Amino acid sequence: MTGPVLVVHGGAGRINPQHAQPRAAALARALDAGWAVLTAGGRALDAVVAAVQVLEDDPLFNAGRGSSLTRAGTVEMDAGLMDGHTLAVGAVAAVRRVANPIRLAREVLHHSEHIFLVGPGAEAFAQHRGLPLVDPQTLITEERRRQWQAHQPTAPTGDTVGAVALDVQGDLAAATSTGGLLAKALGRVGDSPLVGCGFYAENALGACSTTGLGEAIARVLLAFRAVSLLSQVSSPTEAARQALTLLKERTGGEAGLILLSPTGRIGVAWNTRDMSYAWRSQDGHVIHP
Ligand code: GLY
Repeated sequence: MTGPVLVVHGGAGRINPQHAQPRAAALARALDAGWAVLTAGGRALDAVVAAVQVLEDDPLFNAGRGSSLTRAGTVEMDAGLMDGHTLAVGAVAAVRRVANPIRLAREVLHHSEHIFLVGPGAEAFAQHRGLPLVDPQTLITEERRRQWQAHQPTAPTGDTVGAVALDVQGDLAAATSTGGLLAKALGRVGDSPLVGCGFYAENALGACSTTGLGEAIARVLLAFRAVSLLSQVSSPTEAARQALTLLKERTGGEAGLILLSPTGRIGVAWNTRDMSYAWRSQDGHVIHP
Protein backbone atom coordinates (compact mmCIF):
# COMPACT_ATOMS: atom_id res chain seq x y z
CA MET A 1 0.00 0.00 0.00
CA THR A 2 1.30 3.50 -0.77
CA GLY A 3 0.11 6.90 0.39
CA PRO A 4 -2.00 8.60 1.12
CA VAL A 5 -3.18 6.76 4.22
CA LEU A 6 -4.94 8.23 7.24
CA VAL A 7 -5.80 6.54 10.54
CA VAL A 8 -7.68 8.29 13.37
CA HIS A 9 -8.75 7.18 16.83
CA GLY A 10 -11.30 8.34 19.36
CA GLY A 11 -9.75 6.65 22.35
CA ALA A 12 -9.46 3.32 24.14
CA GLY A 13 -11.42 2.45 27.27
CA ARG A 14 -15.09 1.77 27.94
CA ILE A 15 -17.18 3.32 25.22
CA ASN A 16 -20.89 3.89 25.70
CA PRO A 17 -22.58 1.76 22.99
CA GLN A 18 -25.37 4.35 22.79
CA HIS A 19 -22.81 6.76 21.31
CA ALA A 20 -21.77 4.43 18.49
CA GLN A 21 -23.66 6.27 15.77
CA PRO A 22 -22.55 9.83 16.57
CA ARG A 23 -19.00 8.59 17.17
CA ALA A 24 -18.99 6.91 13.76
CA ALA A 25 -20.22 10.13 12.17
CA ALA A 26 -17.50 12.15 13.91
CA LEU A 27 -14.77 9.69 12.89
CA ALA A 28 -16.05 9.89 9.29
CA ARG A 29 -15.87 13.70 9.42
CA ALA A 30 -12.33 13.51 10.83
CA LEU A 31 -11.31 11.15 8.00
CA ASP A 32 -12.90 13.49 5.44
CA ALA A 33 -11.03 16.50 6.83
CA GLY A 34 -7.64 14.79 6.82
CA TRP A 35 -8.26 13.03 3.51
CA ALA A 36 -9.08 16.33 1.80
CA VAL A 37 -5.63 17.61 2.80
CA LEU A 38 -3.88 14.44 1.64
CA THR A 39 -5.63 14.13 -1.72
CA ALA A 40 -4.90 17.78 -2.49
CA GLY A 41 -1.21 16.88 -2.19
CA GLY A 42 -0.95 18.39 1.30
CA ARG A 43 1.35 17.34 4.07
CA ALA A 44 0.71 14.48 6.50
CA LEU A 45 1.33 16.97 9.32
CA ASP A 46 -1.55 19.17 8.20
CA ALA A 47 -3.78 16.16 7.61
CA VAL A 48 -3.39 14.88 11.18
CA VAL A 49 -4.12 18.38 12.53
CA ALA A 50 -7.24 18.68 10.36
CA ALA A 51 -8.51 15.27 11.54
CA VAL A 52 -7.75 15.83 15.23
CA GLN A 53 -9.32 19.28 15.15
CA VAL A 54 -12.66 17.75 14.06
CA LEU A 55 -12.57 15.40 17.05
CA GLU A 56 -11.54 18.20 19.45
CA ASP A 57 -14.60 20.14 18.27
CA ASP A 58 -16.94 17.20 18.90
CA PRO A 59 -18.09 17.14 22.55
CA LEU A 60 -18.31 13.33 22.57
CA PHE A 61 -14.52 13.09 22.76
CA ASN A 62 -12.20 13.89 25.63
CA ALA A 63 -10.28 16.66 23.85
CA GLY A 64 -10.99 20.31 23.18
CA ARG A 65 -14.67 20.98 23.95
CA GLY A 66 -15.89 17.98 25.94
CA SER A 67 -12.62 17.42 27.81
CA SER A 68 -12.74 15.61 31.16
CA LEU A 69 -12.73 17.84 34.22
CA THR A 70 -9.95 18.13 36.76
CA ARG A 71 -10.48 17.57 40.47
CA ALA A 72 -11.25 21.29 40.66
CA GLY A 73 -13.95 21.01 37.99
CA THR A 74 -11.88 22.81 35.35
CA VAL A 75 -10.52 21.81 31.93
CA GLU A 76 -6.76 21.35 31.33
CA MET A 77 -5.81 19.99 27.92
CA ASP A 78 -2.67 18.45 26.42
CA ALA A 79 -1.69 17.89 22.77
CA GLY A 80 1.37 17.08 20.70
CA LEU A 81 2.42 16.27 17.16
CA MET A 82 5.48 15.27 15.14
CA ASP A 83 6.63 15.58 11.55
CA GLY A 84 8.25 12.31 10.46
CA HIS A 85 10.26 14.02 7.72
CA THR A 86 12.02 16.66 9.84
CA LEU A 87 11.51 15.14 13.33
CA ALA A 88 10.06 18.53 14.31
CA VAL A 89 7.86 18.37 17.42
CA GLY A 90 5.30 20.74 18.92
CA ALA A 91 3.45 20.15 22.19
CA VAL A 92 1.36 21.99 24.77
CA ALA A 93 0.06 20.96 28.18
CA ALA A 94 -2.34 22.20 30.86
CA VAL A 95 -3.92 24.76 28.56
CA ARG A 96 -7.31 26.04 29.65
CA ARG A 97 -8.39 28.65 27.16
CA VAL A 98 -7.56 27.24 23.72
CA ALA A 99 -10.38 25.54 21.80
CA ASN A 100 -8.01 23.50 19.61
CA PRO A 101 -4.82 22.56 21.48
CA ILE A 102 -3.58 20.61 18.43
CA ARG A 103 -3.51 23.82 16.40
CA LEU A 104 -1.52 25.49 19.14
CA ALA A 105 0.88 22.52 19.17
CA ARG A 106 1.39 23.01 15.42
CA GLU A 107 2.15 26.69 16.03
CA VAL A 108 4.78 25.62 18.57
CA LEU A 109 6.25 23.18 16.04
CA HIS A 110 6.52 25.80 13.29
CA HIS A 111 7.08 29.06 15.14
CA SER A 112 8.66 28.49 18.55
CA GLU A 113 12.32 27.96 19.34
CA HIS A 114 11.03 25.38 21.87
CA ILE A 115 9.16 22.11 21.43
CA PHE A 116 6.87 22.14 24.48
CA LEU A 117 4.99 24.98 26.18
CA VAL A 118 2.66 24.65 29.17
CA GLY A 119 -0.06 26.56 31.03
CA PRO A 120 -0.11 30.35 30.88
CA GLY A 121 3.07 30.43 28.77
CA ALA A 122 1.41 28.29 26.12
CA GLU A 123 -1.66 30.54 26.18
CA ALA A 124 0.48 33.66 25.83
CA PHE A 125 2.10 32.03 22.80
CA ALA A 126 -1.37 31.30 21.38
CA GLN A 127 -2.21 34.99 21.62
CA HIS A 128 1.13 35.90 20.09
CA ARG A 129 0.35 33.60 17.13
CA GLY A 130 -3.18 34.97 16.73
CA LEU A 131 -5.08 31.95 18.05
CA PRO A 132 -8.10 33.19 20.01
CA LEU A 133 -8.38 32.50 23.73
CA VAL A 134 -11.84 31.31 24.75
CA ASP A 135 -13.83 31.35 27.99
CA PRO A 136 -12.90 27.98 29.61
CA GLN A 137 -16.56 27.49 30.56
CA THR A 138 -17.39 27.09 26.86
CA LEU A 139 -15.22 23.94 26.76
CA ILE A 140 -17.18 22.26 29.59
CA THR A 141 -20.19 20.11 28.64
CA GLU A 142 -23.09 19.02 30.86
CA GLU A 143 -22.13 15.37 30.27
CA ARG A 144 -18.60 15.92 31.59
CA ARG A 145 -19.95 17.86 34.56
CA ARG A 146 -22.27 14.93 35.39
CA GLN A 147 -19.37 12.47 35.09
CA TRP A 148 -17.28 14.64 37.38
CA GLN A 149 -20.04 14.91 40.00
CA ALA A 150 -20.62 11.15 39.95
CA HIS A 151 -17.02 10.03 39.89
CA GLN A 152 -14.45 11.57 42.16
CA PRO A 153 -11.56 9.08 42.20
CA THR A 154 -9.16 9.80 39.36
CA ALA A 155 -10.13 7.64 36.38
CA PRO A 156 -9.37 7.24 32.71
CA THR A 157 -12.44 8.20 30.66
CA GLY A 158 -11.00 7.09 27.33
CA ASP A 159 -11.90 9.27 24.38
CA THR A 160 -8.44 10.78 23.85
CA VAL A 161 -8.13 11.47 20.13
CA GLY A 162 -5.30 11.09 17.64
CA ALA A 163 -4.27 10.55 14.05
CA VAL A 164 -1.38 9.24 11.94
CA ALA A 165 -0.92 9.85 8.23
CA LEU A 166 1.28 9.08 5.24
CA ASP A 167 1.20 11.66 2.45
CA VAL A 168 1.96 11.29 -1.26
CA GLN A 169 5.49 12.61 -0.71
CA GLY A 170 6.08 9.62 1.58
CA ASP A 171 6.17 11.68 4.77
CA LEU A 172 4.62 10.47 8.02
CA ALA A 173 3.07 12.47 10.89
CA ALA A 174 1.38 11.74 14.21
CA ALA A 175 -0.83 13.85 16.50
CA THR A 176 -2.63 13.30 19.82
CA SER A 177 -4.95 15.50 21.91
CA THR A 178 -6.65 14.92 25.27
CA GLY A 179 -8.38 16.40 28.28
CA GLY A 180 -6.59 13.73 30.34
CA LEU A 181 -7.88 11.73 33.29
CA LEU A 182 -11.20 12.47 34.92
CA ALA A 183 -10.70 14.22 38.28
CA LYS A 184 -6.94 14.51 37.73
CA ALA A 185 -4.88 16.80 39.96
CA LEU A 186 -4.43 20.36 38.76
CA GLY A 187 -1.24 20.52 36.73
CA ARG A 188 -1.19 16.78 35.98
CA VAL A 189 0.19 16.03 32.53
CA GLY A 190 -0.16 12.58 30.95
CA ASP A 191 1.50 10.88 28.02
CA SER A 192 -0.36 12.61 25.19
CA PRO A 193 1.93 15.67 24.78
CA LEU A 194 5.13 13.70 25.47
CA VAL A 195 7.08 12.78 22.35
CA GLY A 196 7.67 9.03 22.12
CA CYS A 197 4.89 8.37 24.62
CA GLY A 198 1.62 9.80 23.26
CA PHE A 199 2.85 10.24 19.69
CA TYR A 200 5.87 9.60 17.48
CA ALA A 201 6.66 9.85 13.75
CA GLU A 202 9.86 9.18 11.86
CA ASN A 203 9.77 8.44 8.14
CA ALA A 204 12.26 5.59 8.36
CA LEU A 205 10.46 3.90 11.28
CA GLY A 206 6.73 4.63 11.33
CA ALA A 207 4.10 6.76 13.07
CA CYS A 208 1.99 6.12 16.17
CA SER A 209 -0.66 7.80 18.34
CA THR A 210 -1.58 6.25 21.71
CA THR A 211 -4.53 6.43 24.11
CA GLY A 212 -5.02 5.07 27.62
CA LEU A 213 -3.50 5.48 31.05
CA GLY A 214 -0.81 8.14 30.67
CA GLU A 215 1.03 7.25 33.87
CA ALA A 216 1.68 3.77 32.43
CA ILE A 217 2.15 4.69 28.76
CA ALA A 218 4.88 7.23 29.50
CA ARG A 219 6.97 4.76 31.49
CA VAL A 220 7.52 2.48 28.48
CA LEU A 221 7.62 5.21 25.77
CA LEU A 222 4.73 3.37 24.15
CA ALA A 223 4.58 5.25 20.83
CA PHE A 224 8.33 4.97 20.20
CA ARG A 225 8.29 1.36 21.39
CA ALA A 226 5.58 0.47 18.86
CA VAL A 227 7.26 2.12 15.85
CA SER A 228 10.58 0.53 16.82
CA LEU A 229 8.96 -2.91 16.71
CA LEU A 230 7.67 -2.39 13.15
CA SER A 231 10.88 -3.55 11.49
CA GLN A 232 11.20 -6.59 13.78
CA VAL A 233 7.81 -8.29 13.40
CA SER A 234 5.56 -9.51 10.59
CA SER A 235 2.87 -6.80 10.61
CA PRO A 236 1.96 -3.43 12.16
CA THR A 237 -0.86 -5.12 14.08
CA GLU A 238 1.66 -7.53 15.59
CA ALA A 239 3.96 -4.60 16.50
CA ALA A 240 1.03 -2.82 18.17
CA ARG A 241 0.07 -5.97 20.10
CA GLN A 242 3.63 -6.62 21.28
CA ALA A 243 4.00 -3.03 22.47
CA LEU A 244 0.80 -3.39 24.50
CA THR A 245 1.91 -6.74 25.91
CA LEU A 246 5.07 -5.10 27.14
CA LEU A 247 3.05 -2.23 28.62
CA LYS A 248 0.81 -4.67 30.48
CA GLU A 249 3.66 -6.84 31.72
CA ARG A 250 5.85 -3.99 32.92
CA THR A 251 3.25 -1.54 34.27
CA GLY A 252 -0.14 -3.28 34.33
CA GLY A 253 -1.39 -0.40 32.19
CA GLU A 254 -4.25 -0.37 29.72
CA ALA A 255 -4.05 1.45 26.40
CA GLY A 256 -4.65 1.38 22.68
CA LEU A 257 -2.70 2.63 19.70
CA ILE A 258 -2.81 3.27 15.98
CA LEU A 259 0.29 2.62 13.93
CA LEU A 260 1.47 3.25 10.36
CA SER A 261 4.53 1.69 8.74
CA PRO A 262 6.75 3.76 6.39
CA THR A 263 4.91 2.18 3.44
CA GLY A 264 1.44 2.86 4.84
CA ARG A 265 0.58 -0.52 6.39
CA ILE A 266 -1.89 -0.05 9.25
CA GLY A 267 -1.89 -1.53 12.75
CA VAL A 268 -4.44 -1.05 15.52
CA ALA A 269 -4.51 -2.80 18.91
CA TRP A 270 -5.89 -2.23 22.39
CA ASN A 271 -6.01 -4.09 25.72
CA THR A 272 -8.98 -2.10 27.05
CA ARG A 273 -12.58 -3.23 26.55
CA ASP A 274 -13.18 -0.91 23.58
CA MET A 275 -11.26 1.17 21.08
CA SER A 276 -12.66 3.65 18.62
CA TYR A 277 -10.78 4.11 15.33
CA ALA A 278 -11.15 4.58 11.59
CA TRP A 279 -8.85 4.54 8.58
CA ARG A 280 -8.89 5.46 4.94
CA SER A 281 -6.58 4.59 2.07
CA GLN A 282 -6.87 4.19 -1.67
CA ASP A 283 -8.14 0.65 -0.95
CA GLY A 284 -11.20 1.86 0.98
CA HIS A 285 -12.12 2.81 4.51
CA VAL A 286 -13.12 1.29 7.86
CA ILE A 287 -15.00 2.93 10.73
CA HIS A 288 -14.99 1.15 14.10
CA PRO A 289 -16.70 3.54 16.53
N1 GLY B 1 -3.66 9.18 27.66
C1 GLY B 1 -4.29 10.33 28.15
C2 GLY B 1 -3.85 10.68 29.50
O1 GLY B 1 -3.49 9.82 30.30
O2 GLY B 1 -3.85 11.84 29.79
